[in-house]
Amino acid sequence: MAKEGRRDFDAAAAQWDEQPRRVKLGSDIVEAIRKEVPLDSRMVALDYGCGSGLVTLGLQPYVQHITGGDSSTGMLEILDGKVKAAGLTNVDGILLDLEVEVKLEKQYDLIVSSMTMHHVEDVAKLIESLAASLKPGGWLALADLQAEDGSFHDDSTGVFHHGFEPAFLSGAFAKSGLSQVHTAVAAVIEKPSPDGPVRHYPVVLCVGKR
Ligand SMILES: C[S@@+](CC[C@H](N)C(=O)[O-])C[C@H]1O[C@@H](n2cnc3c(N)ncnc32)[C@H](O)[C@@H]1O
Repeated sequence: MAKEGRRDFDAAAAQWDEQPRRVKLGSDIVEAIRKEVPLDSRMVALDYGCGSGLVTLGLQPYVQHITGGDSSTGMLEILDGKVKAAGLTNVDGILLDLEVEVKLEKQYDLIVSSMTMHHVEDVAKLIESLAASLKPGGWLALADLQAEDGSFHDDSTGVFHHGFEPAFLSGAFAKSGLSQVHTAVAAVIEKPSPDGPVRHYPVVLCVGKR
């Protein structure tokens, strides 16, 4: 059930993967995370705002276990269907909203998130909470739109930020006590504008270590 002012991701879940640019973005972000974070097959990971699991499932071969956390039961059902169909034993899904809950129960070696921060009102607070849920030596890797002119979303329901300046993300990581903080361009989304020409939206990945 969507909260007031939020986008109804339950309604979007079944068709989420039908847009090839979303599937490509998920795989570009997985590759960028693999490049920027020293992944390890002993890592226990969380994908915050996992959606249909495009990044969760892309990362699962490289970690011991990954949990997809999302506030949408519809998205979690799609993830669960994929996990069952593939017979995976190292992936699960949990209903999770850190804007409502105070903190995570567990601590993780790796927390990732893709295209979720712009739907979160208080991003600095969420980054603080995710950083505090890392084990010492654990990594946080957040990918989201670089600051854009507001044209990315055709419907801006539940969009609290038109992307982020890399310096804002790296500043929030540093304030949350993370080290080795750096940013990289993880992908460039190509999207046609209503009046014709294709627009390009860079996606920034911010990484830091606890
Ligand atoms: C744009 S989708 C991205 C999904 C996926 N990470 C991907 O890259 O395909 C944003 C996701 O964040 C989830 N979400 C939005 N606000 C959230 C919150 N406060 N806590 C947890 N998940 C949230 C939505 O339900 C949705 O699945």
